[in-house]
Amino acid sequence: MKDMLKKIIEEHRPLTNQGQVADYIPALGNANLNHLGIAVYDSDGKYYEAGESQIKFTIQSVSKPLVLLLALIDSGEEEVFSKVGMEPTGDPFNSIIRLETFDKQKPLNPFINAGAISIVSLIKGKDNIEKIERILEFVRRLADNDNISVDNSIFLSEKVTGDRNRSMLYFLKSIGNIEGNVEDILDLYFMQCAIKATAKDLARIGLVLSHGGYDPIREEQIVPKREAKIVSSIMATCGMYDESGEFAVKVGIPAKSGVGGGIICTVPKRYGIGVFGPSLDRKGNSIGGVKVLEDLSREFDMSIY
Ligand code: DON
Repeated sequence: MKDMLKKIIEEHRPLTNQGQVADYIPALGNANLNHLGIAVYDSDGKYYEAGESQIKFTIQSVSKPLVLLLALIDSGEEEVFSKVGMEPTGDPFNSIIRLETFDKQKPLNPFINAGAISIVSLIKGKDNIEKIERILEFVRRLADNDNISVDNSIFLSEKVTGDRNRSMLYFLKSIGNIEGNVEDILDLYFMQCAIKATAKDLARIGLVLSHGGYDPIREEQIVPKREAKIVSSIMATCGMYDESGEFAVKVGIPAKSGVGGGIICTVPKRYGIGVFGPSLDRKGNSIGGVKVLEDLSREFDMSIY
């Protein structure tokens, strides 16, 4: 595994020149285009890595399955899915086109921006300080790493430029999908997106998800099985946005990407995988990361289908 990871990272590193770092959040534009790394945990707790697997980056949309998991634990399945659906959209992550046209006036799934913003409004806590601390504690526990925090400059960079998300949130409030102070909810969403972690952390979390919330390394149930399975299922169908279908065919692993370049993957009962590569394809997924996963999945027969 170790040699294979090294080989595929170096093989696909040149691809990073064909993508672009996200700069619609200006502070993300400082990322190094050529970084590419992968981290893998197997069920025996063995760890493998290659490339820039221990560089910190903001997890952006990779936070969405994690906050969904906390919301499911906090509020239960029924309440969560009264706010968002479970269907893939085939639309870009920041699309607003279906907000007014879908059936029950709720975002189609919890991973498009509108759905994720609706979900974070469910997180319990007396104010944003308590809520983000609860989210961070949860992520630290999943990753078994206390050294996970929010990148303040990236949070602020998105807060001052995030008007598209702001518009979605006002719309959601107007249709009664969310309650509370719009700017507070938006701040909390931008903070969850600005959580800094490494590919290694994502692999560790992926391992816990792959065992239905049980951590084979700590030998402990970290989150309930039912909720872990719900999140993994939505990763499989909606995790790569309008690339989810192609990713299912070519990689076949439940995954979730972020515009910071991260991808978390969970191979049921077998592996947790984290990828980092901030050079993105047109759909906002790591261009080198997706290729690396394609090769890895083929070599180790990881597709769940
Ligand atoms: O809301 C946004 O636009 C970003 N904070 C997160 C988007 C994202 O990561 C989409 N994933 N590929």
